[in-house]
Amino acid sequence: MTDIETLEQETLQSIAAADSEASLEALRLGVLGRQGTITQRLRGMGALDPDERKSVATALNRAKDAISQALRQRRDELEEAALDRQMQAEWLDITLPARPNRTGSVHPVSQTMDEVAAIFADMGFGVAEGPQIETDWHNFDALNIPPDHPARQEHDTFFIRMESDGGSQPNVLRTHTSPVQVRTMQERGAPLYIVAPGRVYRCDYDQTHTPMFHQTEGLAIDRDITMANLKWVLEEFCRAYFEVDAVELRFRASHFPFTEPSAEVDLRCSWQDGQLKVGEGDDWMEIIGCGMVHPRVLEAGRIDPSVYQGFAFGIGIDRLAMLKYGIPDLRAFYESDVRWLRHYSFEPLDIPTLHGGLSR
Ligand code: PHE
Repeated sequence: MTDIETLEQETLQSIAAADSEASLEALRLGVLGRQGTITQRLRGMGALDPDERKSVATALNRAKDAISQALRQRRDELEEAALDRQMQAEWLDITLPARPNRTGSVHPVSQTMDEVAAIFADMGFGVAEGPQIETDWHNFDALNIPPDHPARQEHDTFFIRMESDGGSQPNVLRTHTSPVQVRTMQERGAPLYIVAPGRVYRCDYDQTHTPMFHQTEGLAIDRDITMANLKWVLEEFCRAYFEVDAVELRFRASHFPFTEPSAEVDLRCSWQDGQLKVGEGDDWMEIIGCGMVHPRVLEAGRIDPSVYQGFAFGIGIDRLAMLKYGIPDLRAFYESDVRWLRHYSFEPLDIPTLHGGLSR
């Protein structure tokens, strides 16, 4: 091997081993720079005789080309490796779903209220609200419950005297969401299709009663509403809510002063070994009160009962949550036990919809 070939081989090896652009540049200067070995050899060729000059020139130029090419190639490789490293370091998988860090979650009662509203919204009902501190008139009188009516006792009402009204007119913590019927009739008139979710209060406490609980009121008023419409809406609602065909409902004749006729809806369920199951067993849990709106209630809402009729219902939200999620004791809902909440609560980003699924 000539010394030129040796130089070329050694340089090519060094280039292949170079691990930075700086060391490549040093190599280039050492060989092809102004003081570089090959540059100097080319410069010194004048001293050679013509034959020798030709073969040395060919060998030097070949070596120069090979080295230049190797330098370019190695520089490209290093650049690409640097880019790869950067891409790895800055890599971000935007396809991963968001990971909420669970500082908060949705209580099963809130989840149930949202699910119920989503189902009725799908049927064309809007959402209405009313105050939790309610006047005696809206909570009772307007709903055809006069002062001496026995239904007043049944409601286990919390009365509150407010400084602002001099303590003369007792207000109540609303005992049901039905006063929202009257308020919404007065505000919006007929036809009217609304649901009104909210908190209600009664002085009662056991496995299926807590002093504060939740209802979703429903009201549909139009020119030709019948009990058949009511039954269809409630059956359709239960099928959608429980997401199973096995649900069995029982419509039982009942009495409410603000509806005529009235019915209560019970759902077949079983309580075994502290487990609550829906659609089987010999127990029935009352979940809905309903009926055709009493003409006096329409009048209180300033709607003409000779033109319009309607149906109304009140759904017990807490019991609905117990049934769907198999929670045997209502009192656990309000004990704020973090372990219980972790077990039964919902991800805040899972918003219930009919098309996306109501619950996980
Ligand atoms: N307000 C009734 C209750 O709380 C339920 C109900 C609502 C009944 C609407 C009939 C119509 O028990």
